Amino acid sequence: MLEARKAVRDLQAYRPPLAGRQGLRMDFNESTVGCSPRVLARLRALDAEALARYPEREPVEQVVAEFLGLDAAQVVLTNGVDEGIHLLCATYLEPGDEAIIVVPTFAMYAIFAGAEGAKVIEVPAEEDFRFPLDGVISRIGERTRVIAVANPNNPTGAAVARDALLKVAQAAPQAAVLVDEAYFEFHGESVLDCVGALPNLFVARTFSKAYGLAGLRIGILAGESKQMAMVRRVASPYNVNAAALAVLPEALRDREYVDHYAAEVQRNRELLQRALNEVGLHYWPSRANFVLARVGPNHGEFVQAFRRRGILVRDRSHDPGCAGCVRLTVGSDEHTRTLIEALREVVAEMGSRCEVQA
Ligand SMILES: Cc1ncc(COP(=O)(O)O)c(C=O)c1O
Repeated sequence: MLEARKAVRDLQAYRPPLAGRQGLRMDFNESTVGCSPRVLARLRALDAEALARYPEREPVEQVVAEFLGLDAAQVVLTNGVDEGIHLLCATYLEPGDEAIIVVPTFAMYAIFAGAEGAKVIEVPAEEDFRFPLDGVISRIGERTRVIAVANPNNPTGAAVARDALLKVAQAAPQAAVLVDEAYFEFHGESVLDCVGALPNLFVARTFSKAYGLAGLRIGILAGESKQMAMVRRVASPYNVNAAALAVLPEALRDREYVDHYAAEVQRNRELLQRALNEVGLHYWPSRANFVLARVGPNHGEFVQAFRRRGILVRDRSHDPGCAGCVRLTVGSDEHTRTLIEALREVVAEMGSRCEVQA
């Protein structure tokens, strides 16, 4: 009988709640307003000829590299950051190798590392989800071949100091150290300038969040050129579709649109955090386009109460260290106002069934 590899059989199926997402999407950290009209116009202008061809990634990689201040050899465009993680794991992990992650964090690191037969070492975050630098460094060993850190982290919104990330990369020269900057535009700090200088450092960026293009599936993986030549070997030459490649240069050119949205989200993140404070829910200050709040044992009822009001928020209570927690995406002024109004109503309605502080 045909059987999947043991590493695959041992994986937990990961099924994000994608079905029936009707309403205001404050559950997946997407943009709530969508991409720039200039990007949409470029997409609408695609013709049959553009779709009949196999997509050519390299010219667009050149444009992206210039935008980032890197060489084209240091950049691979990927089918979202998800594929970037997959490619890194496929390039560097042998069965029995170790991949270090800090939990709670984005689910795909453990899945792709586990699928290669690697042992996933979960280092718990410190109090208030602070980055456990000493904990990570103490777990680095001969078999450590991947270390993945989301900065800012999902689902906590916590940022990691640049210095700490560089220390990790320096402490593990035998490991691919991935800094996943999916939420970079809302945070503003990066280690991208160290790519190349630190040969084992990789940085991932996405167009799924601030750029409003999650549906097109496009991301960036950057690293030292010799390492990226290895990563390229395991990527399909056609991994990024023609529509995504056609619009990406326009998305980068319309910088004003993304800067404007990122600034709007940063302001609204403050408003949401203030509102959480006012209603008495504990939250963790965020550097991303979402805020994690603790609701307590009735987190399910809280999520449903939002859904009844046409708003989707994400239950994160099963993540390590996140018992009773719900993650709320921050969006445009209007969408965040709607979210905050609903928050006030839901907390009032639930009364003592919400874990509120005096
Ligand atoms: C930290 C982090 N990395 C990567 C992703 C996925 O990015 P993409 O849509 O580019 O695959 C997410 C999405 O939620 C994320 O939170």
